Amino acid sequence: MTQVAPYRALAQCYDAVMDHVDYEVWVELIETLLEFHDHAPGDVIELGCGTATFSCLFAARNKANYLATDASREMLCVAREKARDSDIEFAQLRFESFDDQEIFDTVFLLFDGLNYITDEADVLMLFRRVYRALRSGGLFIFDQSTPANSLNNLEYFRDAGRSGLVSFIRHSEYDEETAVHTTRFEITTSDNVFEEIHFQKCYTGSQIQEILEKTEFEIEAGYDGFSLETADTESERIHWVVRKH
Ligand SMILES: C[S@@+](CC[C@H](N)C(=O)[O-])C[C@H]1O[C@@H](n2cnc3c(N)ncnc32)[C@H](O)[C@@H]1O
Repeated sequence: MTQVAPYRALAQCYDAVMDHVDYEVWVELIETLLEFHDHAPGDVIELGCGTATFSCLFAARNKANYLATDASREMLCVAREKARDSDIEFAQLRFESFDDQEIFDTVFLLFDGLNYITDEADVLMLFRRVYRALRSGGLFIFDQSTPANSLNNLEYFRDAGRSGLVSFIRHSEYDEETAVHTTRFEITTSDNVFEEIHFQKCYTGSQIQEILEKTEFEIEAGYDGFSLETADTESERIHWVVRKH
């Protein structure tokens, strides 16, 4: 078995891994949040776009200049192919090197991208980078998975599937003490078997709120899951909407 970095092999079957996710519902939620917070998307950058399923659906339904970015070259390769008939632009970008100044109206970071940052100081650094990149009035919409999501969904910790000739087996573990969710993927292609280990930190909503309070962002809302209810300690996923004034 060949050990590779996260998403290097998984990119080939990521869309099959995410088969259970209704991205249309996700796009509708984000559109609702934009409307509710009275914000036109304008110049958008998406961080951690993955294979761009959200990006393609959103860009097709909304007037926006859309730049989709991700650290993984392999995920971007699938994304570019999927979006070949769209106007979406792509760039390889790690959160750690995001360094633009006041050129975006909207920043998205969706589906657990934030959880890949396992150190609070690095989360703060990213928030500050996003703040700098936004124009005045700009909105940052991101989600986070919480410890409740890992604790309440143990039945999904073992999973397997296939996309064409590529198959995957997924095993997850959650360490309550460190709040680290570890996922091991075994990915079998026609010529090799790969292993990827993904570490994700499950921050509580209060932890993320405390980090946001160290920035100049105004927190407009933290929503529970896919609802417009305010998140609480039982929320498994929180959508944050924060603004630069
Ligand atoms: C769970 S996937 C979500 C992808 C996409 N947003 C979606 O909804 O399907 C997380 C993505 O974050 C990206 N990612 C993780 N760490 C990153 C980093 N430090 N900088 C940029 N992207 C990162 C991964 O490459 C992966 O594509």
